[in-house]
Amino acid sequence: MLCRDDVIIYHASVRCLERRESRDRLMGMLSAEETARHDSFVFDDGKRAYLLAHAMKRTVLGHHLDAPPESIRFTRDRNGKPRIQTGLGRPPLAFNLSHSSGVAAMAIANSAPVGVDIETASRKLNAASLASALSDQEAASLTPHGSADEIRRLLSFWTVREAFSKAVGVGLSLPKNDVCFEVSGKNSARLVFLHPRYGPPSNWHFFQRWISDQAVVAGAAKTSDARKVGWHVFDFENVFGKRLIGG
Ligand SMILES: CC(C)(COP(=O)(O)OP(=O)(O)OC[C@H]1O[C@@H](n2cnc3c(N)ncnc32)[C@H](O)[C@@H]1OP(=O)(O)O)[C@@H](O)C(=O)NCCC(=O)NCCS
Repeated sequence: MLCRDDVIIYHASVRCLERRESRDRLMGMLSAEETARHDSFVFDDGKRAYLLAHAMKRTVLGHHLDAPPESIRFTRDRNGKPRIQTGLGRPPLAFNLSHSSGVAAMAIANSAPVGVDIETASRKLNAASLASALSDQEAASLTPHGSADEIRRLLSFWTVREAFSKAVGVGLSLPKNDVCFEVSGKNSARLVFLHPRYGPPSNWHFFQRWISDQAVVAGAAKTSDARKVGWHVFDFENVFGKRLIGG
């Protein structure tokens, strides 16, 4: 049961999709549109991360809505942000999804706008291009040609900013100086400036976690209480007490 201010972040790895039967089983959950999108990825890496993300999305939402995963319908707002189509007889849950090389993450909340981003340091990063999307103050705090730790700081900035822009729904078109974070020694981000158009900073909460040496997840939610953030590793071999694949 998801309470009013709860925000839950699930993250998963494609390792559970190594077996062909597992992938076939999960493909059965996808809509025709999702299947076409899955098939359009050229490389297996992209296909698997997409399947992982969308099968996780349907399984988690199905659990919280008490509905079969494949029955859930989605719509998009004018900026392309997916939402649950209402009509299931319950208030819609808010959710957001992210997939990157080998991993996927999703955030859900009762109705608070939420955004999530997952990135892996092992991806062929174009550090200069990522840094050019940061606020002036964030970019100035990074050293050029950075060490591995600087790459981690860059990803900390990038993911928390993208989580925020996805919560708002504007994606990559967020004006870069509308929001500014500081990243501490532990590579976790703290808000230092927010443009008043997004409301008071105290209404926003940000969470970030390095889930391995290489992968970082960040979430953003417009909620009055930040104490209720849950992190869960999602595994299809043990989903809410049931085994969906494997074995
Ligand atoms: C959202 C966006 C930042 C995603 O970036 P990304 O790092 O490539 O991808 P991620 O894996 O983190 O996130 C992708 C997921 O975010 C969600 N998403 C798509 N558009 C979104 C938006 N505007 N806001 C929030 N979430 C969005 C989708 O679930 C998408 O996955 P899917 O396509 O498999 O369903 C980028 O696609 C974007 O800027 N979109 C906005 C487009 C836009 O501005 N359109 C304007 C007029 S059409």
